[in-house]
Amino acid sequence: MPIREVRLEALDPELHSPKLRDWLRRPHVARWWGDPQLALENSLQCSAENQAVIVADGAPVGYLCWQTPPRNELEAAGLADLPEGLVDIDVLIGEPEFIGRGIGPRSLGLLVARLRLDPFATVAGLGTSVSNGRAIRAFEKAGFHLFREFQDPEFGPCRYMVVEVRDAAP
Ligand SMILES: CC(C)(COP(=O)(O)OP(=O)(O)OC[C@H]1O[C@@H](n2cnc3c(N)ncnc32)[C@H](O)[C@@H]1OP(=O)(O)O)[C@@H](O)C(=O)NCCC(=O)NCCS
Repeated sequence: MPIREVRLEALDPELHSPKLRDWLRRPHVARWWGDPQLALENSLQCSAENQAVIVADGAPVGYLCWQTPPRNELEAAGLADLPEGLVDIDVLIGEPEFIGRGIGPRSLGLLVARLRLDPFATVAGLGTSVSNGRAIRAFEKAGFHLFREFQDPEFGPCRYMVVEVRDAAP
C-alpha cells in the first residue's frame, strides 16, 4: 500500500529511545550505521531539537538527526572543504517493512524544507558508503548531488552528497 502521509515528530528521549535502540540493532541499519551501542550514545548526545522520529501514516518507522559538525571533525574526516553552515544529516528507516517505500527521500525533503528557515544553514549533506546503493539513490531522489568521494576510517570509500539550502551570497 502506498504511504499517504510522512511527517517528522519531535523526539521524546523517554518515549523513543527504546525504539531507536531496536532500530540501530537491526542488521539492515547496523551495516551502515556501525556499532549500535556507539550509535545510540552519539544520538543521545545530540540535542532534542536536532533529532526527529519519522512517522509514516501514524506509525514511527525511522529517525533523523542533524548537526553542524565542528571544523576539526570535518578535517579529521578529510572533508575540510565543505562550506561553512553545513548541516550534516543521518537517516534511517528502522522498520524493515517500510524500506523501499519512498519514506527516506520524503523525510529528507521535509527536513531540508525546515533547514531553509534556518538563517545559519547553507548546505545540507549526508555521507554514506559507495556500496550503499539504496541510500545513494534515495538521497538523489531527495535532491542531493555528489560533493565528492572520501575515505572513511570505518566504512572505507564513501560519498558525501549535498543540497544547497540557501542561495550563495551575491
Ligand atoms: C537509505 C534509506 C534511508 C533510504 O530510504 P528508503 O525509504 O528505503 O528509500 P526509497 O524508498 O527511495 O528506495 C531507495 C531507492 O533505491 C533503489 N535501490 C534499492 N537498492 C539499490 C541498490 N542496491 N543500488 C541502487 N539503487 C537501489 C530503489 O529501487 C529505490 O529507487 P526507485 O524509487 O527509483 O526505484 C533506508 O533504506 C534506510 O534507512 N536504510 C538503512 C540505513 C541506511 O542505509 N542509512 C543511510 C546511510 S547511513
